[in-house]
Amino acid sequence: MVFPQLGCPSSASLKKKKYFFAVEGQDGTGKQTQATALVEALKKNGLRVLKVATPAYGSKACYLLERWRNKELDVGNEYAIASLYAHDRLAVALDLVAPALLADSDYDGVVADRWTASNIAHCGGRILNGHETQVKEFEKFLAWVTQFEHDLLGIQRPINLVLDVSAENSERLARARATDMDKVENTVVAMKQAKTVYDLMCVRDPNSYWKIKCQSDDGKLLPQEKITGNLFDRVVNYMWGIE
Ligand SMILES: Nc1ncnc2c1ncn2[C@@H]1O[C@H](COP(=O)(O)OP(=O)(O)OP(=O)(O)O)[C@@H](O)[C@H]1O
Ligand SMILES: [Mg+2]
Repeated sequence: MVFPQLGCPSSASLKKKKYFFAVEGQDGTGKQTQATALVEALKKNGLRVLKVATPAYGSKACYLLERWRNKELDVGNEYAIASLYAHDRLAVALDLVAPALLADSDYDGVVADRWTASNIAHCGGRILNGHETQVKEFEKFLAWVTQFEHDLLGIQRPINLVLDVSAENSERLARARATDMDKVENTVVAMKQAKTVYDLMCVRDPNSYWKIKCQSDDGKLLPQEKITGNLFDRVVNYMWGIE
């Protein structure tokens, strides 16, 4: 993919500012696809970008999380589940993200495939469960997980690039690509719960949650290249101080 460079500041001037973006969205929205494409597009434009992904399945920090996902552990509640995801994220934050964001690192920034917002959307989505009566419980969880991950553990706060894909479209994509483990989770109900929370966060905290257009007005998923272009435009506008 070729992006226009006319009128853009040189990559050298951009390199002074480190940035941290997380690609977010319910399962099957194309996070991995878009995080990879965004990183490639940024690299083509002269930026040195580190891509990370959480959960880092296969790592030692994921041991308990994977046992829970394999149904070997009965983890009592959404707070305990979220703490397993946070533990994995802390390892990635310490090992990879923190060094990359240091002023003298070899990187200009980091792009994550999922970050803290995934805990908010998935565990929070199950707590909210589509019921207005659960809003208080959701608010309690949101305050806790934000304080726990960011303020107490020191996990970095990214700008979240939320892929705006309907629950129906994401379920279709996730099913087409599903592994055995995914099959258990990729229900349209779970997708809707997570999507509801992402939508809510984009309204509540628009500075940190940017909704990225991924569908045409008639609900059809846009081609991957078009979505990458939408992501790239938002990201470089931010870097150049246009927004
Ligand atoms: N815009 C698109 N149009 C058509 N297919 C797409 C599009 N974006 C992604 N896909 C396909 O959808 C599937 C899911 O994409 P991907 O694995 O990137 O999503 P994900 O959000 O990382 O999923 P998960 O949350 O389950 O990890 C893949 O097979 C991918 O090739
Ligand atoms: Mg993925």
